[in-house]
Amino acid sequence: MRYPYEKEITLPNAVPIYLVNANQLQNFQDHKAWIQASAFRADPGTYCLIPGDDGIGKVLVGRPEAIDTWTLGALPAMLPPHSYALADDWSPEEATKLCLGWRLGQYRFDRYRQNQSQPLAQLMVPAPVDAAYVDAATTAVYLVRDLVNTPAGDMGPDHLEDAVTTVAKTFQAELQIFRGEDLLSENYPMIHGVGRASDEAPRLLDLRWGDPDHPKVTLVGKGVCFDSGGLNIKNAAGMRLMKKDMGGAANTLGLAQMIMAMKLPVRLRLLIPAVENSIAGNATHPLDVLPSRKGLTVEIGNTDAEGRLVLADALWEGCREDPGLIVDFATLTGAARVALGTELPACFCSDEEVGTGLIQAGLAVDDPLWQLPLHQPYRSMLESKVADLSNIGNSSYGGSITAALFLQEFVKPAIPWVHIDLMAWNLRSLPGRPEGGEAMGIRAVYELIRRRFT
Ligand code: BES
Ligand code: ZN
Ligand code: ZN
Repeated sequence: MRYPYEKEITLPNAVPIYLVNANQLQNFQDHKAWIQASAFRADPGTYCLIPGDDGIGKVLVGRPEAIDTWTLGALPAMLPPHSYALADDWSPEEATKLCLGWRLGQYRFDRYRQNQSQPLAQLMVPAPVDAAYVDAATTAVYLVRDLVNTPAGDMGPDHLEDAVTTVAKTFQAELQIFRGEDLLSENYPMIHGVGRASDEAPRLLDLRWGDPDHPKVTLVGKGVCFDSGGLNIKNAAGMRLMKKDMGGAANTLGLAQMIMAMKLPVRLRLLIPAVENSIAGNATHPLDVLPSRKGLTVEIGNTDAEGRLVLADALWEGCREDPGLIVDFATLTGAARVALGTELPACFCSDEEVGTGLIQAGLAVDDPLWQLPLHQPYRSMLESKVADLSNIGNSSYGGSITAALFLQEFVKPAIPWVHIDLMAWNLRSLPGRPEGGEAMGIRAVYELIRRRFT
């Protein structure tokens, strides 16, 4: 794993960074002519380098009304590669946000480039920063991005298993794996049914960590390493980005790593069904009927609605131990993206208090989610004429809700459950969030767990 500070070049003196609004520009009268010549008006999102005696003397950065995680996120990619330091006094919360945004803005995916990337601008960690949190969150987000960005040819179920094994070893977690035919004997028929046409065997990765007496938290991540659609094959445009269909798994692995690095007092379980939704003679056909771990039979109305199938078997297993909270992450539906766009994940919560808590936690850490309803009247759209349930709704509307209702069939009603339907990919670059694979919702869920169980 590559850390953001590996390429640090340290100058004897860090260049101070001042966050200023238009009024505060008057404090820099000495540089008035330069600032005017640079047309710097302290608008948020802009900056101005001020020359010093032997290089850059200071940096002025336009100050937004409210400081958030992204305030400095664009700077590492824009400033010359020196060491910088925050000039003003910041509260621990603000300093932590500023520092984290900077770190997240230093990410680059250069695994496949021959030319080494240029060194990056570095920010000295100011005293009040929660450095452990910044390190844990940065490492987690980098892991998620690396896993999602890696092409499917190099990130099949074998590689995803390797990634989980590495994390398990780092934190001395237990890891159990059910592969291939074992999925049938151990009763995970839908994970097998989705993944059996791939050259790399489908599998369930089952990680456990922490004191068994602590409250149980279970994470479930959709690990579809490539989603061709199966026999209901996707068209070229729809298939192009489908290396990211293990983004749910990547996000849960990053979140698990964060929880373990911060030693949250929970008994953690991570369940990742890792499969490739491929096409071969033994692939599941449209209108096949699969049994499920729970026992319900499922008619496959569309082989491209595969994520809910692998999640259903994993969720039902997760419920067996009656955890205090179960959270799944999945790149589950295009419909959720139609509803909310690509940058705002949808969340569905079976427990009102948990739902409110999650929304508030997300706002507090600049990792927002938007709640959609588990609208029970739509449940009838999942009825099948031959099986207990169909894997698709019989309407072209409300697709993210019917997908969530399908999952809900496989969650015990008494267990507080959160389902997150996310993009896991930035279609455009924003400060601290480069185009490509992205962690979405993990800092929010981390904060929810911290508030609820510590
Ligand atoms: N992985 C896709 C969903 C997806 C597509 C998420 C694009 C983000 C961006 C999922 O497996 C899928 O194909 N869902 C279908 C469901 C449909 C067949 C009921 C969809 O959303 O079209
Ligand atoms: Zn699909
Ligand atoms: Zn999928």
